[in-house]
Amino acid sequence: MTVPKKLHVKTWGCQMNVYDSERMAEAMGAEGYVTTADASEADLILLNTCHIREKAAEKVYSELGRLKPLKTANPDLRIGVAGCVAQAEGAEIMARQPLVDLVVGPQTYHRLPDLVARVRAGEKALDTDMPQEDKFDHLPRARGAARPSAFLTVQEGCDKFCAFCVVPYTRGAEVSRPVARLLDEARVLVDRGVREITLLGQNVNGYHGEGPDGRARSLADLIWALDGIAGLERIRFTTSHPNDMTDDLIAAHGDCAKLMPYLHLPVQSGSDRVLAAMNRKHTSRDYLDVIARLRAARPDLALSGDFIVGFPGETDADFEDTLRLVERVRYAQAYSFKYSARPGTPAAERPDVPADVASERLARLQALLARQQDETQRDMVGRETDVLFEKAGRLPGQLIGKSEYLQAVHVTAPEGLRGQVARVRITGAAPHSLAGELA
Ligand code: 5AD
Ligand code: SF4
Repeated sequence: MTVPKKLHVKTWGCQMNVYDSERMAEAMGAEGYVTTADASEADLILLNTCHIREKAAEKVYSELGRLKPLKTANPDLRIGVAGCVAQAEGAEIMARQPLVDLVVGPQTYHRLPDLVARVRAGEKALDTDMPQEDKFDHLPRARGAARPSAFLTVQEGCDKFCAFCVVPYTRGAEVSRPVARLLDEARVLVDRGVREITLLGQNVNGYHGEGPDGRARSLADLIWALDGIAGLERIRFTTSHPNDMTDDLIAAHGDCAKLMPYLHLPVQSGSDRVLAAMNRKHTSRDYLDVIARLRAARPDLALSGDFIVGFPGETDADFEDTLRLVERVRYAQAYSFKYSARPGTPAAERPDVPADVASERLARLQALLARQQDETQRDMVGRETDVLFEKAGRLPGQLIGKSEYLQAVHVTAPEGLRGQVARVRITGAAPHSLAGELA
């Protein structure tokens, strides 16, 4: 019997990278590779990188530095850089760091087995094309048992060109996958035990995939089609742009029982001046209107968002507008970042806000968001929510699952409930998790 080759994948960044890493592992699985969590026993290491914020390439170089002894110990080890840093700076990394055998951009993962065959033969391989064909049509899918909650990429790329963002350059133009393929893939996932599917896209609510009659379908149409799959119990989607929150999608939040009451809807800033400079093409009022309509459709909707502080030109007054917007929305959860100039983006040419000013704003915003998150968590105590149990807890006899609102919930529950949804009464709250008992 031959010993299978081992693959180690390290993933940075967004959920789409997590999904892509799984698909790369599946593609290499078809070539006889098994995955390992231990880089030191791997024959192939893939770094799936993220370029969204600062020090992206530096992180890759320092990780490569850490891997150097492994390559010395095992001359057969091959190292690849994938993801958005590979797309943006892969050729340069390969030229500067001889440890790198392979560079593959996000749109050519289906060519990974061929690229690996080339590096096994002693060549270097670089592929950062943005080909016409859909990589997912050429990537094999695993068939074994799957975790209860899965990602499904339905849309990739972005045409919005926010002035700070590299995504339109690293992931390319918006492409939506056809409805029929997604339904097939969702059915396979459900047959493998998946109960919750999170639809992924950089601009997922801009989804406009082809329907059976050749005409485009909206994200709401896709959600309603998925709603018809028996055994699929929960649908989520991320990440969305406020301008693509169409009437049918807002209505689905009230009408589709499988669509969970949690929405990540980034606004980035509460200042209309900054929003215009960011090329967001909406005002704070537009955003608040969308939120009001969503809450009218689904009053218990939990909201999450992204914020950037210290965008070039942001004044104290602009920042106060952001705090005011946060006060009005009341987020269940949110992510906030200091602006980081990304090479090649329009905002990178503009003068920065001083670093200490940006740091102080970030601290104030994060304190406010943490307070809101705390309140949201504590408001849950005494309430009942459905929980999808996903894995064993830290204590014996305990399972961890997710509430409808995407909160982690720890419950004493029989192992048989893993992979199932059950009603839970919340008995305790911490900032990042809840405790509950079966209702
Ligand atoms: N600097 C800081 N944050 C950024 N984001 C995107 N680009 C930048 C940048 N250049 C944040 C935005 C986006 C999230 C995924 O990352 O808030 O919504
Ligand atoms: Fe980047 Fe999102 Fe703006 Fe697209 S919509 S450019 S992915 S921040």
